[in-house]
Amino acid sequence: MKVTRRSLLGGAAGMTALVGLSACGGSDRGGSAASASASSGSAGFASDASIGISLPWLGTQNWKEAQDLFTSQLKEAGMKAVVQSAENSAPTQQQQISAMIQQGCKVIVVGPVDGKQLGDVLGQAKSAGIKVIGYDRLIENTDAVDAVTQFGSVRTGELQGQSLLDGLKARKGSGPYNIELFGGGPTDPNAPNFFKGAMSVLQPKIDDGTLKVLSGQTSFDKCGTENWSNAKAQSRMDSLLAGSYQGKKIDGVLAPNDGIARAILTSCKQAGQAVPVVDGLDAENESVISIWKGEQWSTVAKPTKLLVGKAVELIKAMQKGETLPEPSEKENNGKIDVPVYALDPVVVTKDNAKEAFKDDPARLKLLS
Ligand code: BGC
Repeated sequence: MKVTRRSLLGGAAGMTALVGLSACGGSDRGGSAASASASSGSAGFASDASIGISLPWLGTQNWKEAQDLFTSQLKEAGMKAVVQSAENSAPTQQQQISAMIQQGCKVIVVGPVDGKQLGDVLGQAKSAGIKVIGYDRLIENTDAVDAVTQFGSVRTGELQGQSLLDGLKARKGSGPYNIELFGGGPTDPNAPNFFKGAMSVLQPKIDDGTLKVLSGQTSFDKCGTENWSNAKAQSRMDSLLAGSYQGKKIDGVLAPNDGIARAILTSCKQAGQAVPVVDGLDAENESVISIWKGEQWSTVAKPTKLLVGKAVELIKAMQKGETLPEPSEKENNGKIDVPVYALDPVVVTKDNAKEAFKDDPARLKLLS
């Protein structure tokens, strides 16, 4: 049907007509011309439309970078970015998205605080003909999502687990090794996936006795960190060390991101432990410096610039009413198979840092 409509109107001229039409209806609620629900090829919208960007919080560097990069990249594309952060509150995020619908945003990009709490408000967006893109995190249990852009989340976890093992071998002799495990915020759909990926590498080594988890805490339920809070991670690490490591050494810790990695390192230092092997995620400036100094062992880089670029590429296709490019995979979100545009994360240690950041002058500058 979309093909027929397009060919009836005839190529580029037809597209202009459609864009013009929807621009007239620019800020109306209905957006009826654009209400076709398929994520592929619909009417498009005005080239200077407002685009809503709903971020979960600004507590880690990646989200602050996303705030700046969406603003600049959308401006460059001639669109307006309406960026909000929900400060880790699902109700605040629902209200912010609701306001974006009222404001006539044509696409809403969402990094959910809680992947499962947005079905109602995104359903309203869908009824108003607004497209929805999940950014970095999956949006769950709703059919009101057209696409997700992210770095493979299970893959990220596999890299974290493998890097922890590699670091133990490189820094702590031949083992067996004492380790502890941390996961991210339980409402973030990435967090269980990161943990699952890491455990696919670590569990066999726990089973064969190479790795020992003296606390016995190995499930995501036990190891998750509410709201990705560094302070909560630090106090859990303090308790683990006090409870299971009096007079014993801790060799390594699985960390789901850089903030938590640094919290773990601080806790170990305060308890008089030698620096354990700790992985991370995000290539935050402070962690890049720590890796360069030989403290944090590794991080996983997932450049925000590339991920925002991918989302903006989809927004531009939606603006023109084009069919979206083939996704790299589809992921079932509990309701539908969501097209996922996945990018590859990269492990960074001191050894490959210069190479890994060769196109990132700000981080490269930290390596001296
Ligand atoms: C992101 C990480 C980030 C974490 C906490 C995750 O969903 O993928 O990059 O560190 O949220 O903000």
